[in-house]
Amino acid sequence: MLNNSKIRKDFPILNRQVNGKPLVYLDNAATSQKPQVVIAALSKFYQKINANVHRGVHSLSQEATKEFEEARLKLQKHFNAKHTHEIIFTRGTTESINLVANGFSQLLQKGDEVLISQLEHHSNIVPWQLACEKSGASLKVIPINSKGEILLKEFEQLLSNKTKIVAVNHISNTLGTINPIKEIITKAHKHNAAVLIDGAQATAHIAIDVQELDCDFYCTSAHKMCGPTGIGMLYGKEEWLQKIPPYQGGGEMIKEVTFEKTTYADLPYKFEAGTPNIADAIAFGAAIDYLNNIGLDSIAKYENELLAYATQLISEIPEVKIIGTAQEKAAVLSFIVKDIHPFDIGSIIDKLGIAVRTGHHCTQPIMQFFDISGTIRASFSFYNTKEEIIVFINALKKAITMLC
Ligand code: ALA
Repeated sequence: MLNNSKIRKDFPILNRQVNGKPLVYLDNAATSQKPQVVIAALSKFYQKINANVHRGVHSLSQEATKEFEEARLKLQKHFNAKHTHEIIFTRGTTESINLVANGFSQLLQKGDEVLISQLEHHSNIVPWQLACEKSGASLKVIPINSKGEILLKEFEQLLSNKTKIVAVNHISNTLGTINPIKEIITKAHKHNAAVLIDGAQATAHIAIDVQELDCDFYCTSAHKMCGPTGIGMLYGKEEWLQKIPPYQGGGEMIKEVTFEKTTYADLPYKFEAGTPNIADAIAFGAAIDYLNNIGLDSIAKYENELLAYATQLISEIPEVKIIGTAQEKAAVLSFIVKDIHPFDIGSIIDKLGIAVRTGHHCTQPIMQFFDISGTIRASFSFYNTKEEIIVFINALKKAITMLC
């Protein structure tokens, strides 16, 4: 059982007030809050360990290198990658996807196809459009139904030996749909297509085992997992990471440089040009320890309860229409209120201390599918409470009374 009141004490920000009201933070899909242990890991690094990694003979550099590589090991264990060198530190999910798409742009040819879904975040659309523009490959889109679920039959029909990579999210940031990625991966592999999973919304809510999933790439960001911004992960199967060319050139990613020819460093450094984000990588490791101490299974169970509770209460408001009603959903509740602009609702409830996101959530194709300009999105985390949901619902009712 998750001890929510004890957990809330770990997050200093949850004590603050916004606009004179206690903060009710329901924008966890945008970024999560940070527990004290993560803040302390950052501060400890800069106060006691700060040095560059993999470079110095001196003790401080060796200490920084040890902590940095231990963080990589934590990620390997947490996501159950086969090898530590299959974990690449990036700036976040967006950079992880760009790294792979850029690599594929050099492997793809005219006539090849890249498959994404209607549910994707712009960060899992635009890099593939760029890759297709560069290579002459075509981008195909897996359709969804009115609940916001991927249509698996249509997916199968789109798959062929032209499909070189399938890139889909694990959980939709806008609708909360949990996609059947295991099934998607198995079906894609039957056509020898690689599979990239955008896990930005999943890793704070679900335990991930990349070997069990058998995905070729899995991407995530620390800041959605109680870790810092500016650091993320690309997991790639060794054979794929060997196959795709480096993303950026510079120090750290080379074996030997001459003006005639440069040879690249072994994995993972081939993809880590320049001084890495050392402090944030170490704090990412601290965030993973923190989540594991609570337990992802308890987190998922508790967040599902919050989602069910919020869904039930919001369904009783006649002016509200929920957008995204998939059978399998994570703790995201997107909705519209008659023809009121989401921004207006968001602004009114902000005055009451409630943080939600409004707009298209970087998923304009989802908005086009539902023929709306945006939604109001409340997204829950394990440090939220049922009491906060009541405060949110009451504030929403107040805003509706003012605007309708
Ligand atoms: N992708 C993040 C969100 O959904 C920023 O809000």
